[in-house]
Amino acid sequence: MSRLFLVLLLVGCFALPGQSFGAERRENVLAGKRLFNSYCMLCHGEDGRGGGPLANKIKLKSPVADLTVDKYQQMSVEKLLLLIEGYNRKETLMPKWEKIIPEKNLRSIAGYILMFTQKDLRMRGDARRGREIFRQSCVACHGARGKGNGVLAQVLGVKMIDYTSRSLSKITDEEIITTITNGKGEFMPSWSGTLSSEEIKDVASYIRTMFGK
Ligand code: HEC
Ligand code: HEC
Repeated sequence: MSRLFLVLLLVGCFALPGQSFGAERRENVLAGKRLFNSYCMLCHGEDGRGGGPLANKIKLKSPVADLTVDKYQQMSVEKLLLLIEGYNRKETLMPKWEKIIPEKNLRSIAGYILMFTQKDLRMRGDARRGREIFRQSCVACHGARGKGNGVLAQVLGVKMIDYTSRSLSKITDEEIITTITNGKGEFMPSWSGTLSSEEIKDVASYIRTMFGK
């Protein structure tokens, strides 16, 4: 029994740093993202700063709250959930979500809101969607496994980073996004006209997820 306990303890220790990246948590965050974009984005904006299309359209009596400020970002999920659910100040356009969306889903939304200032690309993007984009637009050069040996790379005779190697860990998340957005060097195309900023985040997230951090 004591050996089992030790094993559990060790597993617990090693699981801890990666906990925020656990599969279940990730699913919830992604569900929260979808819900947020359906129900909240109109007013709060895709980035949560309060500049959604509806907020700009109608003259709101009170400005839409910026959900990326410390006041909200440092709240626990529970506290934020209460604000979203039981929000009942008079004369505001912020709906009382308690009666509209089941609590389980509101909890996912709250979890997602708390990711707004999260820096970890693997959480910020949707790697599953990113994989589809990568397969469609990037493999010709970067290769199916991201090793930098796609057919086009061989034809053009260009060298690029092997994503499966450690070298990618020297590049920051922002650099990855900037390179995909603006292109780099002679052959890495700019994708800003082809992919939305959301899709760029997704494919960057996939690169990080698959090829090490
Ligand atoms: C019709 C526009 C609109 C929609 C849709 C909307 N909000 Fe709001 N929200 C507001 C406004 C306006 C405020 C600021 C109101 C105030 O401070 O009186 C606000 C404030 C908030 C606050 C801060 C509350 C506080 O007490 O500080 C949170 C959290 C929030 N919204 C979350 C959400 C979530 C989550 C959703 C989607 C499920 C959502 N909102 C959808 C307009 C909206
Ligand atoms: C025509 C070939 C080509 C295609 C297609 C291509 N890339 Fe690249 N990519 C390159 C080359 C060449 C480099 C190296 C550029 C340099 O270092 O000068 C590069 C570099 C990068 C880097 C940065 C690594 C570094 O060196 O800083 C990222 C991230 C990247 N590409 C992502 C993508 C994504 C995502 C796609 C698909 C949406 C894509 N690339 C499609 C050729 C390509």
